[in-house]
Amino acid sequence: MTRATAAEALATAAGAGRIVRIMTAMDRPRRLRRTPALRRLVAETTLEPRQLVLPMFVADGLAEPREIGSMPGVYQHSMDSLRKAAVEAVTAGVGGLMLFGVPRPEDKDPSGSQAAAPDGILNRGLRALADEVGDSTVVMADTCLDEFTDHGHCGVLSADGSVDNDATLDRYVEMALAQAEAGADLLGTSGMMDGQVGAIRAGLDAAGRTDTGILAYAAKYASAFYGPFREAVGSSLQGDRRTYQQDPANRRESIRELELDLAEGADIVMVKPAMSYLDILRDVSDRSSVPVAAYQISGEYSMITAAAQRGWIDRRGAVLESLLGIRRAGADFVLTYWATEASHWLS
Ligand code: PBG
Repeated sequence: MTRATAAEALATAAGAGRIVRIMTAMDRPRRLRRTPALRRLVAETTLEPRQLVLPMFVADGLAEPREIGSMPGVYQHSMDSLRKAAVEAVTAGVGGLMLFGVPRPEDKDPSGSQAAAPDGILNRGLRALADEVGDSTVVMADTCLDEFTDHGHCGVLSADGSVDNDATLDRYVEMALAQAEAGADLLGTSGMMDGQVGAIRAGLDAAGRTDTGILAYAAKYASAFYGPFREAVGSSLQGDRRTYQQDPANRRESIRELELDLAEGADIVMVKPAMSYLDILRDVSDRSSVPVAAYQISGEYSMITAAAQRGWIDRRGAVLESLLGIRRAGADFVLTYWATEASHWLS
């Protein structure tokens, strides 16, 4: 019996007031859900420690790690605690580490000069990571100015106060060279300036850094869910980033961003945030010729954490389901603040 005929028979039976189900063998998907072994056998999507990358924060002048209020369980690290947490993450099997630097407020300036300074906090942190765990994991650096500028924007400003795209590219190249020098394997270009991947690739190549890769934030949306991150990095931003990050209303634009980043030499592309942008992740993953990452951002972490603290949601179940959903939507790997803990659960 075809499905259409079955549906017709069902409708007729229902019309006659009888409770009759006419089902073919194909209409019993529950057969494969009956036991854990069957479910395991047919699971389409995998979730493994190597597919999780831990974002980390290292803060200048900290003697002890400091917990981030809006992200319970996530810390601004001292140089010491950064090393320890990195070893713990790598031992748990994570695929990589993504480092952000938090300078002292008095070290910020309009051009974010500490971003490219060899002894700036981020570059010191990268050196510590490369030294401590460098061969056993992938060390990634956030290549963006916002933590280092006193106005909090991801680039330098023009006289009229707008973000100057092309002047910013020069700063990104300097920052990229310092990060490559400090030992980063991959540079995470998160600033959403046009041409940033091409400029950084050219700068790296010209300096002989052909082995340093670019993890391009291809699609990055102007999201309210970054809120807790701004506390995490002590951001100085007033206003928003809507003139350079993407409008959440737009879908096609991400394909354009993807194509540009691929043409400019991206080694890996990323979609961010993750959970409110799973359609974008699917679009990008269907079209990308390079690996695709997704960033489960601070607000996504905080929402699940807060609900779990109140006993409103099962924490472990919600975390693993969210990560599986992001993988299912097309991410080869996921940046998540739960990387270490979830890796423990998964091994
Ligand atoms: C900008 C940057 C941001 C995040 C990563 N890189 C914040 C922003 O764009 O405002 C957010 C990460 C998160 O929310 O977890 N360099």
